[in-house]
Amino acid sequence: MSQALIDQARKVMEGNDRGSYTVPTHGLYPFQWNWDSALSALGFSHFDMDRAWVEIETLMAHQWDDGMVPHIVFHEPDDGYFPGPEVWQTGRPVPTTGITQPAVAGFALRKLYDRAEDKAVARARLTKLLPKVHAWHQWFYRDRDPENTGLVAIIHPWESGRDNSVDWDEGLDAVPIEGVAPFTRRDTTHANPDHRPSDEQYKCYIWLVEHFRGLGWDNPKLHDASPFRLVDPGFNGILTRSCDDVADLADVLGNLSIASEARAMATKGREALESLWNPALGQYTCYNRVTGRLQDTPSVGGLLAAVADVPHARAEALARRIGLLAERCGYLVPSHDPANDAFDSQRYWRGPTWLIVNYMIAEGLARSGQTEMAKRIHANSLHLIEKSGFAEYYDPISGEPCGGSSFTWTAAMVIEILKNLKVAA
Ligand code: DGY
Repeated sequence: MSQALIDQARKVMEGNDRGSYTVPTHGLYPFQWNWDSALSALGFSHFDMDRAWVEIETLMAHQWDDGMVPHIVFHEPDDGYFPGPEVWQTGRPVPTTGITQPAVAGFALRKLYDRAEDKAVARARLTKLLPKVHAWHQWFYRDRDPENTGLVAIIHPWESGRDNSVDWDEGLDAVPIEGVAPFTRRDTTHANPDHRPSDEQYKCYIWLVEHFRGLGWDNPKLHDASPFRLVDPGFNGILTRSCDDVADLADVLGNLSIASEARAMATKGREALESLWNPALGQYTCYNRVTGRLQDTPSVGGLLAAVADVPHARAEALARRIGLLAERCGYLVPSHDPANDAFDSQRYWRGPTWLIVNYMIAEGLARSGQTEMAKRIHANSLHLIEKSGFAEYYDPISGEPCGGSSFTWTAAMVIEILKNLKVAA
């Protein structure tokens, strides 16, 4: 059974492969997305190691001079997606967006290097990639943490990757949508509108893009100029973990300056995460940097911080919290607590379960000794695939498939989970 699933997953990935990058899925997402790509590389690494490196090399080839790595690279024109390059107007030779996404590339590189059989080839590729990934992390702490707190803010919900999470509702109230240019959404022609963000949210998304475009995509200015500045524990957890992974890889390469800088960033980031602990909920929650308030929204962002080698007691509490969520749904890990009024079982990041998030939470919990919960999350993930195929995300109550289908990173995670289970067995 598991080999059959791996074969199917590989077919999905190959169907979305455009040679040097993969699209998340045909139609809905026709370009290269940042964190999709880095996580998809993990799937490739089990059957084509060269292709896995190429995926990240292509992404990093489009890094901006200041270190920022954009959230979409528009390799080929495709008018089936909105907002395309004509809206972003970032002036790049190959058009890109002007915002970023969760920094999973460092995390993925570490796994690629560890798995590589030919370490000489892997070292050569790493030697070129590692300084770029480190520069991206430096950019984060420079331009998205101007007060040097150890926590970076996102300035657009799309940066989080969790576009319409309940976490952003309060922050988006501060985004004035008057004057936003009229537009036609394309996503709702490819996917069920009930599974997607609302029109009101889209107006905020586009207002923010127009606002930053008006500031010439001048990164040092954007943080303070944004009416939306949210500190996401999951986003920061991923960044912290990637800094750790970059530090370890820099040790392998003998690059002492990157190693010590990256380790210092990780240590500071991990300590600062503690300020996002929400004792009433028993998980981390988002901090609204505009209002100066720790939010009470019980989303998966606060559980995703498990990837950051958090203190033992925190990992234990997160596993407990996920156990509680398991009593409220059939398929872990829901992107929002089903007991909360704002939960919506099929609407994108307001309830559905996502395999990439499951994978990262389980990976972090297992490293922190919470192996039973990690196994449970893996088992739930595989049940979803067996029941509903390689969807973009799933209804956590019924297990129904939602959003796009034949999804690259879902397939990559299936390969990753099954291959890792085999190794562990
Ligand atoms: C979309 O277009 O839905 C993406 O999530 C933005 O990155």
